[in-house]
Amino acid sequence: MSSLMFAVTATRFDTHNPISGLKLGDHADPVVPDGWTTVRVRAAALNHHDIWTLRGVGLPADRLPMILGCDAAGTDEDGREVVVHAVIGDALAAGGDETFDPSRSLLSEHHDGTFAEVVTVPRRNLVPKPEAITFEEAACLPTAYLTAFRMLFDRAPIGPGATVLVQGAGGGVATALVRLGSAAGYRMWVTSRSEDRRTRALELGADQAFETGARLPERVDAVMETIGEATWAHSLRSLKPGGAIVICGATSGSMPPADLNRVFFLQLSVIGSTMGTRDELARLLTFMQQTGTKPVIDRVMPLTQARVGFEAMIAGDVFGKVVFTL
Ligand SMILES: NC(=O)c1ccc[n+]([C@@H]2O[C@H](COP(=O)([O-])OP(=O)(O)OC[C@H]3O[C@@H](n4cnc5c(N)ncnc54)[C@H](OP(=O)(O)O)[C@@H]3O)[C@@H](O)[C@H]2O)c1
Repeated sequence: MSSLMFAVTATRFDTHNPISGLKLGDHADPVVPDGWTTVRVRAAALNHHDIWTLRGVGLPADRLPMILGCDAAGTDEDGREVVVHAVIGDALAAGGDETFDPSRSLLSEHHDGTFAEVVTVPRRNLVPKPEAITFEEAACLPTAYLTAFRMLFDRAPIGPGATVLVQGAGGGVATALVRLGSAAGYRMWVTSRSEDRRTRALELGADQAFETGARLPERVDAVMETIGEATWAHSLRSLKPGGAIVICGATSGSMPPADLNRVFFLQLSVIGSTMGTRDELARLLTFMQQTGTKPVIDRVMPLTQARVGFEAMIAGDVFGKVVFTL
């Protein structure tokens, strides 16, 4: 007999008023395909991805209604504490890296997401949660922290001791980059539009913080981009010859002037990065434990009050992660 669970769902798209498509309430319990399993969600975290979905970016209207949310930590069917890997893809078919599977998706794109009492995922997507990491902390890791981990430690052609500029200070990925990079011995510089965020970034471990677009005291080895159009020219200008931009997002727009003369003359690299593998998520959990690094959490609230968290992210009024608990 089917029953109902509480869930946060996208019911329609609205570019200008994304919150208008958000529904909080009853949803049918999930159906579990062969090879998949269920996780009882204890904590889930908000990402900009959830706002893009409500704006109609990333999925067609015929997939609505869709339960939102990429990130979760909870308990599996045997009561074990787990973190959910959000990438649904075939690692074997993609040379061992599911992020290269051309038909990969994230939870909440093809399959219902994590903002619900129960989420259904392939068994392979469960990673054991270390006891030392709380459910709230663990829920921050599968998207923002995993993306930052891969950008810094896999995609960027740099090592500890390098100087890295992070465009933006308050975002989920930006705060993750600062926390992970400074724990690994990188010299992390950030930019932000707000003085308050610049101060807070220094408290997190950033070495220096600059106004968005400001001239830097010296050029850097790599720039981590999530903002796109608004900061792209500054990112190119900030690199040493041979430097690299690693980009995982373009919140402010994706069509800035390319400045190709600068790219070839200074032999710059532009490197895309998306999420990470299940194995990288397992290594990220080990990294957090070994270094004692904690994710930056802006606020924790019950999933029943999720609307407040969505509104804060849309207003840009968040520093770190918004976590929902059940
Ligand atoms: N490819 C992937 O796998 C992947 C994974 C995660 C995220 N992403 C993408 O990365 C982006 C960031 O995600 P998030 O979850 O970190 O989002 P978020 O928390 O909403 O990020 C907000 C950040 O963007 C900056 N910002 C926004 N608009 C700006 C503008 N016009 N000028 C300058 N700075 C601006 C803010 O800087 P201030 O400090 O100045 O406020 C802040 O640091 C999103 O587009 C997301 O979709 C992609």
